[in-house]
Amino acid sequence: MRSTIKEKIKNLRDQIRRHDYLYYNLDQPEISDREYDQLYSELEKLEQAHPELIRPDSPTQRVPGKPLEKFEKGRHRQKMLSLQNTYSLSEIEDFFHRILKTLDTDKPLFFLEPKFDGVAVELVYEKGLLTKALTRGDGQTGEVITGNIKTISSIPLRLFSEGPVSPPDLLEIRGEVMIFSKDFEEMNRTKAEIGEVLFANPRNAAAGSLRQLDPRITARRPLRFYAHGLGVQDKQIFSAQSDFIREIRKWAVPCLQICEKGPLKFPFLCRIGQSLQEILNYYKEVKTLRSHLPFEMDGIVIKVESFDLQKKAGAIARSPRWAVAGKFESPLAQTQVEDILLQVGRTGVVTPVAVMTPVSLEGVTIRQASLHNFQELKRKDVRKGDWVEVWRAGDVIPEIVRVFKEKRTKKLSPFKPPSLCPSCKSPLKPDGDYLRCFNPLCPAIRERAFIYFASRACMNIEFLGEKSIQKFHKLGWLNTFSSFYKLPKKPLEKEEGFGEKSRELLIKSLEKSKKTTLPRLLSAIGIPGVGEQTAHRLSDAVTEKRVSPPNLKEALDILTSMTEEELMEIPDVGEVVARSIKSAFQKKELIQDLKELHNLGVHLSQETQSSQLKGLRFVITGQLPLPRNKIKSEIENLGGKALSSVSNKVDYLICGESPGSKKEKAEKLSVKILTWKEFQKLLNL
Ligand code: IVH
Repeated sequence: MRSTIKEKIKNLRDQIRRHDYLYYNLDQPEISDREYDQLYSELEKLEQAHPELIRPDSPTQRVPGKPLEKFEKGRHRQKMLSLQNTYSLSEIEDFFHRILKTLDTDKPLFFLEPKFDGVAVELVYEKGLLTKALTRGDGQTGEVITGNIKTISSIPLRLFSEGPVSPPDLLEIRGEVMIFSKDFEEMNRTKAEIGEVLFANPRNAAAGSLRQLDPRITARRPLRFYAHGLGVQDKQIFSAQSDFIREIRKWAVPCLQICEKGPLKFPFLCRIGQSLQEILNYYKEVKTLRSHLPFEMDGIVIKVESFDLQKKAGAIARSPRWAVAGKFESPLAQTQVEDILLQVGRTGVVTPVAVMTPVSLEGVTIRQASLHNFQELKRKDVRKGDWVEVWRAGDVIPEIVRVFKEKRTKKLSPFKPPSLCPSCKSPLKPDGDYLRCFNPLCPAIRERAFIYFASRACMNIEFLGEKSIQKFHKLGWLNTFSSFYKLPKKPLEKEEGFGEKSRELLIKSLEKSKKTTLPRLLSAIGIPGVGEQTAHRLSDAVTEKRVSPPNLKEALDILTSMTEEELMEIPDVGEVVARSIKSAFQKKELIQDLKELHNLGVHLSQETQSSQLKGLRFVITGQLPLPRNKIKSEIENLGGKALSSVSNKVDYLICGESPGSKKEKAEKLSVKILTWKEFQKLLNL
C-alpha cells in the first residue's frame, strides 16, 4: 500500500516535471491547462495526506507559505563578471583582431548569442538539487533569492539526469531572469485596469518581482529564465560554450538553442561562427530580428567558444577578455522639459509627468513621459527647463533616459513633491513608492472612475469619449454611475458640438450599453484590486450560487452577503482584495447606485453585447500583434470561446508567427487555421 502511494507520488511528480519542461522549455505542451491542474491537485492531495513523503524538489514546493524578513547575503564561489560593451561594427572588429592576437591561434570559434535585457542570477545545483540562487550584487556577493527563483516554473528544482551524461555534484549555472514582452504588456494592462502605476519596462518588472520578500507575489509574475554561462563545477565535463548549452538543456535547464543552418528563429537564436564576416552578419541579423523576438534584448554577445581558450585569454578587472557585448544603439532624441505636471489616477496615485517640446523619434511624436513616482523623479533629478534625452522604452513607452545637467545655464529648482492632491487639495499619503490621494470624493479620481466606467472593456458606452465625460463631469451632470443614463434629460443642446444627431447617438449607445454582463459591470464600478480577470472569477462565484443566472438585483444580494472567507476561496482573490470587495459592497452609496442602474434598465445578459462569434471555439498560438489575453477577451466579448488546446471541438486556430505544436495538431485534425488578417476579416475589422 505504502509503496504504491510512494510510486504514485513519484509518477505524478515525474509527469508534472515533464509537462513543465514541454510547456516552458519546448513551448510544446501536450496536455491542456485543465489536465495539468488535475495532475497537480492530485499530487497536492496525496502529499497533504502523506506529508512525510514531501520532498523539497516536488513541484508543489515551489511556493512557500511565508514571506522573508530580509534577504540574506551570499558570496559567489567565482566572481560574476560583467561584459565590456561595444557600440559599433568597428569596435567588434577591434575585439576580433585583439582576441586573435591574444590567443595566438589561427581560427578560434566564437559562440554568438543575444544579449538579454534582464536580471542576472546564479543557480547553484548540488547533487542535482537546486540549493541556492543568488543575484549578481557587486559581483562578489549577492542576495540569496532561492525562494523567489523556485517559483519560476521553467527552472528545474532537480536536474533531469536520465541521459548518458549526469550533472556534476556541484554545478553553478548563470543566466538571466526576464519577462517576455507579451507577458509584460499583459501585466501592465492588468495594472492599468486596477489603477496601479505601470512598470517602465520588462527589465524593471523582472527586477521588482525578484526583489519581493514574499515569494507568493513573485510566483504570480510571469518570470522566465535563460541560462548563458557557467560558474563553478566540481568536475570538468564541458569543453565549450555550445557543449555546455546543449548538455544543460538535456537536464531541463532553459536556454536558447543553436541555429545550425537557415535564418535565426526563436528559440534557435545562437550560432557558432568563425570569421569576422560571420560575426558581423550575426549582429545585423539579430538587429533586424529584434522587434520580432518575444523578449527584449539590447545587443549580441560574442564569446570564445572553447573553454580552454577562454581560460587562456583570461580576464581584466571586471570583465573577461574572451567575450564582448555588441550593443544596439537605441534611437534617442533630445528635447526640453517645458513643465512637470501631476496626474491623479483612478485609484488616487499621483504621478509626475514631464511635458516636453514635441520631438519626433522614428516617426512618432513624443510630448510626454511619465516619471513614474517621486522617488524616480528625485533619482533622475529632472527639472522644468532641463534638456533631456528620450527614447521609447521597449519601443513603445516614452522615457527620459538622461538629463543634461551640464546644459543648465540658469538656476533651475529641483521639483518638490506635492503634499496636497493637485485636484482636491487633501493631504497626500505615501503608499509604497507612491503618493496617493485617499479622498474618495476627489474630483480627479471621480473623473477617471467615470471614464473607466464608460470604457470599452467596461460598459462600452461607445459614443462617450474621454473629453465629453470630462465636460459632463465638470458640469455636474455625472456624479454617480447611474447618472450616465440620465444624461439625455440634460440640456445637451446648450453644449457646443452637441446637436440633435449627437443626442441621438448618445441615446443609442446608452441603450446598447444597458445590456451588459456581470463581469463587465463588476469591472466598471472600479473596486480596488478587481480588474477584468478578477471580475470574471467573482462573477463565476456569484453565478455558481444559483441554478439560473441571476439578474442584477439578485447578483447584488449575493455579492453583499458573501463573507471575506468565501471571497478568498475565489481564484485570484487574496486577503486584501477580499477585504476590498467586502467593503465595497458594504457602502450604501454604491448599492444605491447599482439599484438605480437596475431601475434605469441596466440588465445582465448571459450573452454579450454582440454575438458575432457565438458558439465558435478558438485556440490561439504563436506571436500575434496583441497580447493573448486581450485576444481572448475580445473573442469572449463577441460571444466566442477561447480554449487552450486543439481538439476536434475547436473551430479555428488563430496562428501567429513561430507557432508551437498546436499548428501541427490543428492540421492533423483539419481544424481551420486563420492568420491574424483572416481573423480580423472574420470580425469585419
Ligand atoms: S555572459 C563574463 N551572456 O550581461 C560575462 N551575459 O554585462 C558573463 N547578459 O551580468 C556573462 N545576456 O547578466 C552573458 N548572452 C549573455 C548575456 C549576458 C545578458 C548580462 C549578464 C551580465 C551582463 C554583463
